[in-house]
Amino acid sequence: MHDTLRVYDDIFGLLPSEENPTPLVRINRLNPAPDFLLYAKLEWLNPFGSVKDRPAWNMLRRLEAEGRIGPGRKLVEPTSGNTGLSLAALASVRGYKLRAVVPGKVPREKKVLLKVAGADLEVLNDDVCPAPGLGDGAINRAKSHAKSSPDEFTLPNQYENEANIEAHFQTTGPEIWRQTQGRLTHFFAALGTCGTITGVGRFLKSKNPAIKVVAISPSEGHDVPGLRNLSQLGVSKLFDASVVDDIVEIDFKLAYTRAVELSRKEGLLAGPSSGLIFEGARQIAERDGTGFGVMIFCDNVFKYVSNLVKHVPELDAPSFGFYPTS
Ligand SMILES: Cc1ncc(COP(=O)(O)O)c(C=O)c1O
Repeated sequence: MHDTLRVYDDIFGLLPSEENPTPLVRINRLNPAPDFLLYAKLEWLNPFGSVKDRPAWNMLRRLEAEGRIGPGRKLVEPTSGNTGLSLAALASVRGYKLRAVVPGKVPREKKVLLKVAGADLEVLNDDVCPAPGLGDGAINRAKSHAKSSPDEFTLPNQYENEANIEAHFQTTGPEIWRQTQGRLTHFFAALGTCGTITGVGRFLKSKNPAIKVVAISPSEGHDVPGLRNLSQLGVSKLFDASVVDDIVEIDFKLAYTRAVELSRKEGLLAGPSSGLIFEGARQIAERDGTGFGVMIFCDNVFKYVSNLVKHVPELDAPSFGFYPTS
């Protein structure tokens, strides 16, 4: 139960629910359309720092209830980092471990954090999760561990697990509906496993079919961790085209520059996927003129510093003076 004094018996008490939602914060200086209210849902205020705490906990809860995971067994999961971080932390508290199978291009910060959270880390020579072309490297590797060592490993598999969608149908969607008092007209999210857009989309459409569910997708060749563009969507078994009204493609470099602008103009230390979603929402706000939009801001910028400086090199140099060399 949510405690208004914010005193909890353990970390599980911080997991989000309708009574304990992640915050919505309005975009002000960067909103191009005064009659289009735009709110960011700050998923980085989840206990392990991203939207993935929701599906991770729901998948684990179900596996524990089915007796498929517990001390003595291990989880194995393909992840671009966030799901792994949530699973590793939750599993550690429960007394078991995660083997995280990650593509090579996952930012260094996430790889280190996975180990900090107690995961065994397996890094593939791959591309952004999962690699275009080579496709499902991390997913296939995790599946093969679960198949060849069924006595050791349990595979939640966020890409195919209905508990991922259910987490968003039962928490994210109802939170947004209640926080906006049913006034929202547009919902904006990016596509990874597609658990968020499918779960929230289904919930919001069940309340009001007129709500526009808009997917924001990075352009071809992107390097935005956690995200898929249309040509990579095949692996996301949870994508439900019937709840998506619009897919907006955005030049992926804007993910990084918009993330920096959100920090500098709104005080929102947003990661690149939030930067990308913001740019898509901004364009729709400009196009439609009036409305009430909610954007999912999946995580904050701290895990992406090494990616960010590739796209915005001025960030890696002092404004005055010089960095010491040792
Ligand atoms: C940073 C980030 N943004 C967005 C997403 C996409 O969310 P979903 O997997 O629910 O489609 C992910 C998924 O891994 C992510 O890590």
